[in-house]
Amino acid sequence: MPTSWILMTNTICISLGGSSILGKRGIIPDNLEHFASALSRSEKSDKFVVVVGGGAASRQYISSSTKLLGNDRDLDEVGIAVTRVNALIVMKYLSKKISTFPKVLQTLEELPGALRGHRVAVMGGLRPGISTDAVAALACKKLRSKLLVNVSAVMYVYNKKPTAKGARAIHSLDHQTMLRIARRFDNRKPGTHFIFDLEASKIAKRENIEVRFSNLDEKNLILTIKGSNFRGSVVRSR
Ligand code: UTP
Repeated sequence: MPTSWILMTNTICISLGGSSILGKRGIIPDNLEHFASALSRSEKSDKFVVVVGGGAASRQYISSSTKLLGNDRDLDEVGIAVTRVNALIVMKYLSKKISTFPKVLQTLEELPGALRGHRVAVMGGLRPGISTDAVAALACKKLRSKLLVNVSAVMYVYNKKPTAKGARAIHSLDHQTMLRIARRFDNRKPGTHFIFDLEASKIAKRENIEVRFSNLDEKNLILTIKGSNFRGSVVRSR
């Protein structure tokens, strides 16, 4: 399918971290509501790919089956299955608020077709060995989108573990710095949790994708999508 129409619209890929919509006891309805409201209040010419993470649920499943399964590939498959359950809930709820393709996509190839008649396409994980951040970066590459918004409980990239002494939030950084930080903190094991992982950082650098970080505050997310006066880190080329 020709993808030239995509260039006519503003397509934004969102990595919706599981931590932002899921607590220990499952979906946090208010947070999902804020997210849906922010998307429905965006410019009508904006289209979105929403890639939903696994959050606490995937980590719980992965850690409780680590001894039983014992290999990363199987554990990654468990993680992917959980992201797709979360994606199903997000897709069903978004459908009530904004034109959303009525299926959780399982491949990147389905994206152009899904977005042709709808403003939103939703997916979860794609394949073992990566995370949903990387899936969002791959979706940007597929659609030639130059903007990825990472929504999670943490809205700044830090020079150290955010809880460590002397940790400093970095408001603006280039791709090379993001890559260096991701290399230091992302050990790419099933269930690993880092604000923006190494594979995603590599794709963003190679494809020159701007990455903006936001929490699930509705106003801030709207500003982040617009790119004006938002709070949160931004990664862009110098
Ligand atoms: P996430 O991308 O949600 O990881 O995928 P995360 O770092 O826990 O992110 P948050 O907490 O949602 O922000 C959950 C797990 O699913 C597997 C990995 O094991 C990952 O840790 N996964 C996910 C894959 O193997 N491939 C994918 O494409 C996506």
